[in-house]
Amino acid sequence: MVKLSGLGGLALLISSVIAQTSKIRYMPFGDSITEIVCWRGLIWQQLQQAGYTNIDFVGSGTNGNAQGAGCRIPNYDKDNEGHSGFLAINIANQNQLVGWLQRNPADLITMHLGTNDIVQQNKPVNDIITAFTKLVGQMRASNPNMKIIVAQIIPIQIGNYNTQIQNLNKAIIPWAQGLNQTNSPIWVVDQYTGYNAQTDLRDGVHPNDAGDTKMAARWWPALVNAINVIQGNGTTTGTTAVTWTA
Ligand SMILES: *[C@@H]1O[C@H](CO)[C@@H](O)[C@H](O)[C@H]1NC(C)=O
Ligand SMILES: *[C@@H]1O[C@H](CO)[C@@H](O)[C@H](O)[C@H]1NC(C)=O
Repeated sequence: MVKLSGLGGLALLISSVIAQTSKIRYMPFGDSITEIVCWRGLIWQQLQQAGYTNIDFVGSGTNGNAQGAGCRIPNYDKDNEGHSGFLAINIANQNQLVGWLQRNPADLITMHLGTNDIVQQNKPVNDIITAFTKLVGQMRASNPNMKIIVAQIIPIQIGNYNTQIQNLNKAIIPWAQGLNQTNSPIWVVDQYTGYNAQTDLRDGVHPNDAGDTKMAARWWPALVNAINVIQGNGTTTGTTAVTWTA
């Protein structure tokens, strides 16, 4: 039994009860690799199976009709903030995330962005990183305790963009370290390494079943870690990939 004394103890007790009973709002944020994909369904199912039934996926979109197995999971929470074709730079310049987070506040966010910046407009890595900084600022303005998981993005098969994608991915680590905060950590998840652009994509850009499975497995330990941190259950180091068992 935990011994609690005084008002501080009471506040601690109340806040820990709230943390355990209120829903954790998770916003999957990105472009089409967040919107028209099925990894969100796989993650939702795995969360239920692991007993994390208090996670509310949030966002203005409900697309979950891609062809993969994860999209056939019955009644999964399809809410997300994935916007097909969008550039990180445009989302930041137009302050779109501000309104999205006003409509759907979040405690936890995953961000997989940058593919369209590189593929559509060959934007320099520095400009994409500058946009990421603005987006993180907007996340924290919305919620100073926002837990942020940022992807080093997957490779694609079309065109000749993977060198530039790798340059962005390399820049993400020191960028995230520089912006890290105790109350609003940024965890980087490597979605690139081990992702096979020949066999894990359905159309050269978007994940097929194998790709959805890999993406879900990469997000998973970082998500569970973040959920445990939000619930006041300490920090784990579990941000490396796990073998998917669903
Ligand atoms: C940010 O800090 C957290 C601890 O709060 C740590 O787990 C995480 O690895 C750090 N992020 C980076 C990019 O170093
Ligand atoms: C608390 O964190 C530990 C370590 O990550 C984990 O094994 C356990 O399941 C968590 N408990 C709850 C209730 O989330």
